[in-house]
Amino acid sequence: HNHSATSCLARVFMSRHWLGIDTGTGSTRALLIDPSGKTTAAFTAPHEEIRMEHPGWAEQRPADWVHAAATAIKGVLTTSGVSGRDIKGVGLSGQMHGLVMLDRSGSVIRPSLIWCDQRSQPQVDFINRTVGKERVLASIANPVLTGFTLPKLLWVRDHEPQHFERMRKMLLPKDYVRFWLTGEFATEVSDASGTALLNVVNRRWSFDMTDALGLDRDILPSVHESTEVSGVISTHAAELTGLAAGTPVVGGGGDQAAGAVGNGIVEPGLVSCTLGTSGVVFAHTDKVAWDPLGRVHTFCHAVKDKWHVMGVTQGAGLSLQWFRNQLAPGASYDSLMSEAAAAPAGSQDLYWLPYLMGERSPHLDANARGGWIGLTARHTRADLIRSVVEGVSWSQKDCLEIVEGLGIPVHSIRASGGGARSPFWRQILADVFEKPVTNLDNQEGSAYGAALLAMVGTGEFSSVPEACRATIREADSIAPRESEVRTYARGYANYRSLYPALRPIYSQITR
Ligand code: XUL
Repeated sequence: HNHSATSCLARVFMSRHWLGIDTGTGSTRALLIDPSGKTTAAFTAPHEEIRMEHPGWAEQRPADWVHAAATAIKGVLTTSGVSGRDIKGVGLSGQMHGLVMLDRSGSVIRPSLIWCDQRSQPQVDFINRTVGKERVLASIANPVLTGFTLPKLLWVRDHEPQHFERMRKMLLPKDYVRFWLTGEFATEVSDASGTALLNVVNRRWSFDMTDALGLDRDILPSVHESTEVSGVISTHAAELTGLAAGTPVVGGGGDQAAGAVGNGIVEPGLVSCTLGTSGVVFAHTDKVAWDPLGRVHTFCHAVKDKWHVMGVTQGAGLSLQWFRNQLAPGASYDSLMSEAAAAPAGSQDLYWLPYLMGERSPHLDANARGGWIGLTARHTRADLIRSVVEGVSWSQKDCLEIVEGLGIPVHSIRASGGGARSPFWRQILADVFEKPVTNLDNQEGSAYGAALLAMVGTGEFSSVPEACRATIREADSIAPRESEVRTYARGYANYRSLYPALRPIYSQITR
């Protein structure tokens, strides 16, 4: 009798799971964790290609994200054999800054202008003129950038008034997935920080911004802390996904904040470098800290009453993906990395500028363009690949230097994301950063962080730092190598001088 009671208890315990869903740029990932924080299953569903109708434009269809979310959720449940009833909570994460416009009936009005879309410089200029640069900084703790949601919305108002007039709600990518799952119009502080409409200091919408720009306050969804329950799975979504109606869905986080939770970057002194499509250097801060030049973002963290700063390289993994698709079709990233390893450090003075989608940190220039400088007939394809890895790494060093300039101590850096899976790239990061680069035994990043937020939100842990301390472990640490450090320091000085020299040419090209 006793025995069967124990095994019954064990089954109840064993069958409790939390689901994290990350709406990335390239794909949607659904992942399950058990009460100990162990990843028990994961499933990835790819997205359609980004539509780039003009240089600097980037759009995706929200319907595709929802379709991928359904595939990923059903996939993770089927492959793990876990029943929807055993999911105790859901956390969402997603690519930030994208504009989803909904009409009165909750239908999507036009494709989403996503994070790397750069068409809105005239609208950024308009906001600066209308609101004033100083008041913008006082309202949202950041300058408005072309990548942020607000200028994208004003672009639609200027160019497609018929679409703008029909809009009743504006949502971010993962929050559209939330709307589909729960029927709620809701977001949370970390992702809302990237709209240019959140008062990042007070963690509330900035009606200063909406009112000054003549925007209806009602278009904004409600804004939660990341661990708060924002709604529950609807009966309709339950039928489509296999989840149970009534399952709580917590706020979650923008992919960078959620990824930072998944990497344990939730206490002072911890810094990460995440190489996805974009590349992000991310540091936790206990108090609001900002760069007076606005070269890194100051956003709310997915940890209650904490913040973070982050510097963003627009074309990190994107640089390598572009290379592969255009110049080595069909090659695996692993094979590209081994080919690159055969070239010497510094790629024989070949420099890759990763500005394929303009650049955020440190240049804040939507017109910046990518390219190689220093190409000679001697260079091989191995040099080309290696230079891409090195150029992206230098661009991340640009971000790191600004973070350190804010007085944030950096002893080592946790690397994550697709690019950091390669030990070759992690070694280059260590040599370029001149700091030890660690990685974690769990490489799941954003979807994992979202699942941890769901655990905290359903009472399994009392706080995000407590959840991270219980679940996250460093796996290995790579030290910088002396001779490579010297080579890369020299290379970095050259790399740094290229953008200022080319800037006038970029504006000439894009004029
Ligand atoms: C962060 C950012 C990107 C996207 C893409 O500010 O724009 O990291 O979130 O994933």
